[in-house]
Amino acid sequence: MIQKNQNNLAISQEFWKKEGKRIDWFTEYTKVNESNFSQGHIEWFSDGILNASYNCIDRHILQGNGNRTALIWQSNDPAVSKKISYQELLDQVCAFSNALKEINIQKGDRVCIYMQMIPEAIVAMLACARIGAIHSVVFGAFSSTALENRINDSQCKALITQDFGIRGLKLDIPMKDNADKILDNCPSIEKVIVVNRSNNSINMQQGRDIFWHDFVMNQPRTCEPEKMNAEDPLFILYTSGSTGKPKGVLHTTGGYLVYTSYTHQKVFDYQQGDIYWCTADIGWITGHSYIVYGPLSNGATQVIFEGVPNYPDFGRFWQIIEQHQVNIFYTAPTALRALMKEGNSWPQRYNLDSLKVLGTVGEPIKSPEWRWYYEIIGQSNCPIVDTWWQTETGGILISPIPHQTELKPGSATHPLPGIFPEILDENQKKIEEANKTGFLVITESWPGQMRTVYGDHQRFIDTYFSQAPGNYFTGDGAYVDEDGYYWITGRVDDVLNVSGHRIGTAEVEGAIGAANGVAEAAVIGYNHEITGEGIYAFVTLMTGIDPSEAIKNDILASVAKIIGPHAKPSVIQFVSGLPKTRSGKIMRRILKKIAQNESDLGDISTLADPSVIDSLLKK
Ligand code: WTA
Repeated sequence: MIQKNQNNLAISQEFWKKEGKRIDWFTEYTKVNESNFSQGHIEWFSDGILNASYNCIDRHILQGNGNRTALIWQSNDPAVSKKISYQELLDQVCAFSNALKEINIQKGDRVCIYMQMIPEAIVAMLACARIGAIHSVVFGAFSSTALENRINDSQCKALITQDFGIRGLKLDIPMKDNADKILDNCPSIEKVIVVNRSNNSINMQQGRDIFWHDFVMNQPRTCEPEKMNAEDPLFILYTSGSTGKPKGVLHTTGGYLVYTSYTHQKVFDYQQGDIYWCTADIGWITGHSYIVYGPLSNGATQVIFEGVPNYPDFGRFWQIIEQHQVNIFYTAPTALRALMKEGNSWPQRYNLDSLKVLGTVGEPIKSPEWRWYYEIIGQSNCPIVDTWWQTETGGILISPIPHQTELKPGSATHPLPGIFPEILDENQKKIEEANKTGFLVITESWPGQMRTVYGDHQRFIDTYFSQAPGNYFTGDGAYVDEDGYYWITGRVDDVLNVSGHRIGTAEVEGAIGAANGVAEAAVIGYNHEITGEGIYAFVTLMTGIDPSEAIKNDILASVAKIIGPHAKPSVIQFVSGLPKTRSGKIMRRILKKIAQNESDLGDISTLADPSVIDSLLKK
């Protein structure tokens, strides 16, 4: 029987009971936390009734703030930007909601959104939320095959996409064409709605495809928000795990909204009137929580950016901060490393005095880029919030609070109020000792926690509640230093983190295995100067097939086709065999050492065939 700290549970219950009131409820909740980790059951505010889109838009208008700018869209083209007020956002969301209803999208139906960073992506998400449909956003760089798998897993009824994506020098990323390649294999899709972003011609299938502007034409600008139970699903977002296919992480309405609203305000010290900018893509959880639901539920004014940090030059981020007078800036360490490499002259061209708070997310931030961010971008004036969290957690769990927490570069510092982490050893015993690394777990539920893996609740239980029964198992390693600061040491499982993008080793291995001539592959992450982790692939070929550049290219093409270009390995090494135990398990520990050029491979006595080592060492 697990001994829980009853005190923490009581604190959590009281804390969230109060904090839940920060959003508007059509019917107030009387219940707060009814979760039970031992049963893998998560439930918050279960008798409350609300609507997320109402909270993100209508209530600000009812408070007299309809003219406030909600979105400042900065297009890829530096000369083009556009402001959208809360009233305009409401008009667009209502029109799109009505149009969705007209094609018979109902509460509980799944809708896939495959788009780049354009305002319509946010309108589409909020329209789904308004009518109670469940959105499933698929990152715009995912391949056709990845899109197909995600659509089919959750049986989406409609797809919302755009003709072409525009990013940096790429003006014709064929989004609609990518979708067309697989839609014949997606029988659940009844309608495809297409934003005309580029004016270039595309194929439109009669009866199935419709342009966004035609779709919303003549639709009324009002639409009653659906009354949603707190535990009704809000969205599904696929993320990679250590094994198997990507998981459909399911978040529900009430707890998620309370949690994203709370953390957005607390962690960024968001004050009314501040201009906030999160550079994440809408296709990842950071885009969901800290572009859409957190900031908008708090009535924020924010920049959304279609382009990339190095177009038209390496000063783009800093130029946008100056142009739109950004006060709060939230980005990824990988972007900082890439920009730091280009020197100080880029940021120094622009006036960055508007900045007040800086944030990072997605991977550990190391000292050099932390210092650069602090000194050159923040001019030693802005606290950096290093925010630790996951797709599964819905929002930030461990982070400094600006002007309250004393910072240590590279540490996410402390859990937020209402969050109770612990570090456990391999016997699931709490590590009390300072600086000793173990498994990071969370002992009490919090409102933003995922509720299930869509269509596979057993997988939810197995992945998150079986390793350390009674706790939520994060999959990250961490230690607490002598001052009580948390340091995240990275994943303890086979999940890769490349440029802050989560990629499963098994997914990449499967995609490599699909290339002609490949017998088997093992991939591991290795330290990479810019992307944090790079993907290193060890590949064995079929008997009679010799290594060649052509096979390497086939492998890269296969990964791009099955997952997307962001998952391509940066090193491919052909080997005669993979290091395996007698039971056939690949010894990744050895591969990691080889990739990092370490000469001491450690204990290799459990290898089934020690002779493979020679071929592994021959790079
Ligand atoms: C890693 C992104 C260190 C971690 C929001 C986690 C971090 C995974 C940090 C989740 C941080 C995220 N410091 N590592 N501040 N933030 N991570 O689901 O390994 O895309 O488990 O969510 O990113 O990635 P995900």
